[in-house]
Amino acid sequence: MSCGSGDSSCEKPRRRGALVMLGLMTLIFIALSVFSFLPSRGQAVPDAITFGPYRADDGKRVFQAYNCMGCHTMVGNGAYLGPDLTEVYRQAGPAWLAAFLPSAGGWPTQAAVRAQLLDPNQLADTGTDAIDAYLKKYPGAATRIERRGGGTTLMPNLPLSKDEIGQLIAYLKYTSAMNTEGWPPKIEAGALDRRLQLVHGPAAIAQAAPATAAAPSPASDPAALGAQLVKDYGCVACHASDDKKLVGPGWGGLYDSSVSLADGSKVTADDAYLAESIRQPDAKIVAGYPPGVMPAYDTLLKNDEVNAIVAYLHTLEKQ
Ligand code: HEC
Ligand code: HEC
Repeated sequence: MSCGSGDSSCEKPRRRGALVMLGLMTLIFIALSVFSFLPSRGQAVPDAITFGPYRADDGKRVFQAYNCMGCHTMVGNGAYLGPDLTEVYRQAGPAWLAAFLPSAGGWPTQAAVRAQLLDPNQLADTGTDAIDAYLKKYPGAATRIERRGGGTTLMPNLPLSKDEIGQLIAYLKYTSAMNTEGWPPKIEAGALDRRLQLVHGPAAIAQAAPATAAAPSPASDPAALGAQLVKDYGCVACHASDDKKLVGPGWGGLYDSSVSLADGSKVTADDAYLAESIRQPDAKIVAGYPPGVMPAYDTLLKNDEVNAIVAYLHTLEKQ
């Protein structure tokens, strides 16, 4: 027999069927709701991830405040001027990021990353303060240093404070810990070179290779050694050799000039002041610049090397 419209003998089974379906849907709905509230589905949560005293959820706010998404993607969302940042912490690690973020206009050199290894937060995070062990643990840092260390980047320097840098690292640590179900797809070999060529032209790869110094004779000329050291240590990512302001003050004409400090006092930039500014940059903060952004080179540079850099600073004119 067939169920035509208005055939009352068919109403009952139809209604029963509909109710069974509705009951089933309700059960599925409740089960999925309960499941979504289970805390341990293997997903990282931002308020559980920190880098030293810095929290990932604060870092997310910094990421938004500086509109990093205006140039970068995160799990594929955002803009495509800069590379995707989802996995950059896992690849390059906190010390590389700490060297890169405050002076993003220049790629960190190995010595610039080494300067960050002294930070207790990064030691607690990675378990090492030795550069070899660090580069082994984060091969992405080694590749970046090798390919582009000391070169300039297309990213502008952003006026990030010390705390904001720590918070951003915590946030990038979180995004690296997210379960992205295999995203992003693996980049095939050679893709980075092609990207570089696309962005900078064919000469980019050759240019991006770190300048392996045609060493001047440093023994006889401390200023030449100083000029080499400020490149190797990545100082030039933050300081111009004329009086231009980058992340830090320009060095041109600095020697013997009068420097205004953040506490309102003035100091003459003699040899003692310059050496102290290199060893313990936070001892005296130049007015208008952030504290805590320049690494302390106290234990990284030998006496001779600090003196050589100071000798080099003597040679720099304003223009
Ligand atoms: C105006 C555009 C712009 C903004 C804004 C910007 N970036 Fe970038 N960033 C870039 C570009 C372009 C590159 C790649 C540089 C190159 O290849 O020369 C880059 C590179 C990076 C890298 C290195 C990536 C890698 O895989 O080596 C990191 C990390 C990074 N940016 C973080 C940030 C963060 C965090 C912010 C926000 C605080 C930010 N950027 C804001 C343009 C930008
Ligand atoms: C991450 C950026 C950064 C790096 C890298 C960096 N500096 Fe600085 N530097 C700053 C900032 C910011 C200031 C100003 C704040 C202060 O006084 O500490 C500064 C201040 C100075 C001053 C005092 C300048 C003045 O006008 O009185 C000297 C000298 C100096 N740096 C030398 C160096 C040398 C040498 C290196 C490398 C061995 C270096 N800096 C690496 C950011 C940096």
